[in-house]
Amino acid sequence: MKRPPPPSRRPWPAPNGRRILLTGVTGQDGSYLAERLLAEGCEVWGMVRRSSSFNTQRIDHLYQDPHETDVRLRLVNGDLGDGSSVNRILKRVRPHEVYNLGAQSHVKTSFDIPEYTADITGLGAVRVLEALRDLGLDDTRFYQASSSELYGGIGRSPQNERTPFHPRSPYAAAKAYAFHITRNYREAWGMFATNGILFNHESPRRGETFVTRKITRAAARIARGMQKTLYLGNLEARRDWGYAPDYVDAMVRILRAKKADDYVVATGETHSVREFCAAAFARVGLPLEWSGKGLKERGVDARGRVLVQIDERYFRPSEVELLLGDASRARRELGWKPTVTFRQLVEIMVDADVEAIGGTAPPAAPAPRRRAR
Ligand code: NAP
Ligand code: GDD
Repeated sequence: MKRPPPPSRRPWPAPNGRRILLTGVTGQDGSYLAERLLAEGCEVWGMVRRSSSFNTQRIDHLYQDPHETDVRLRLVNGDLGDGSSVNRILKRVRPHEVYNLGAQSHVKTSFDIPEYTADITGLGAVRVLEALRDLGLDDTRFYQASSSELYGGIGRSPQNERTPFHPRSPYAAAKAYAFHITRNYREAWGMFATNGILFNHESPRRGETFVTRKITRAAARIARGMQKTLYLGNLEARRDWGYAPDYVDAMVRILRAKKADDYVVATGETHSVREFCAAAFARVGLPLEWSGKGLKERGVDARGRVLVQIDERYFRPSEVELLLGDASRARRELGWKPTVTFRQLVEIMVDADVEAIGGTAPPAAPAPRRRAR
């Protein structure tokens, strides 16, 4: 993954006295959220779990110089599976706000490690909430990273805050527990506990095993002659894909709203994996023609080379076929709206992957504009 640029030499904003704890700070969303909160002048603490290899690439630019007294990202060791570490960290930090972004977040993997997923993605939320309650941190605001995967197989769209849940994976079942326990702590104990039901959001910092990044990275590498073929699973699946920094902005709005509540965050547009793939390959100058059906489907370039093939290993035991969100409540009550279109998102991601391998990005994408809705 390409390292984000170092922070500018401008002085950081004056501290605003707000202490914030992020779990999942090393992930895609955690890194953007940490940047955003630091830029506001908050004191940001991130929980980092032990790893046998480096797992801080996305945030190195935020904390790498410990001698700079004005850099305010602080990292503490902990694990959502270990209640005592969660408790100890909260006791030390006594944050005004907690964003619980940590999770085993890969849906396909959750079928292989369902118990672990339930423990971290599900019970992790109650460990944080219960520690807050135990420590008497009643005023601390809590954000839970809930997911559009909750809607799963509902077969009804667009999905909004009133749409029933139908989890279709161990990941989604764990997220359903976390969603409900968050709501329960709000109702039972009066805590300011909120859920953002976020639809898929992507960026150049997206993990390489999620489909969008897998595609943009492969398109860049294939264009450069570093890879021959991209193997994918279900091309028919449709997702409502947005831009991660926009979604991090929605998290902050949800947590700073007047009233604790649950909000859907989505673009209101849905596209298939095939469409995403076609747009990414077109961006690197390799427009694809599709031929064949099912497992025999192929994406072929103008020279007749087979660049995309299907591999059944990437299919899921139960699939979520269609996600399409209706974020009109977030729009109305929080003033939130997405700023990046589907096409711009593909271009941002492809161009970053082209640059990461030392290539030249295609003609600059126009700066993200407000969406014409
Ligand atoms: P991500 O890039 O996969 O990041 C997940 C984070 O959780 C990483 O920092 C990871 O640490 C951490 N983590 C994993 N296991 C942990 C444990 N046992 N204890 C503490 N931390 C642990 O995910 P993301 O895309 O940023 O998503 C952030 C959150 O939003 C996740 O909860 C995800 O399920 C949810 N969500 C994401 C989307 C989306 O489209 N991106 C949509 C809806 C909801 P390592 O770096 O050490 O692995
Ligand atoms: N990962 C992956 N790899 N997915 C593939 C592939 C492949 O090779 N081929 C097709 N797909 C399809 C999946 O079957 C799925 O329908 C769709 O692409 C998107 O898969 P992912 O990118 O892995 O994301 P996800 O939608 O399952 O989950 C993401 O979004 C959720 C929000 O709806 C994750 O970020 C979750 O953590 C998040 O909650």
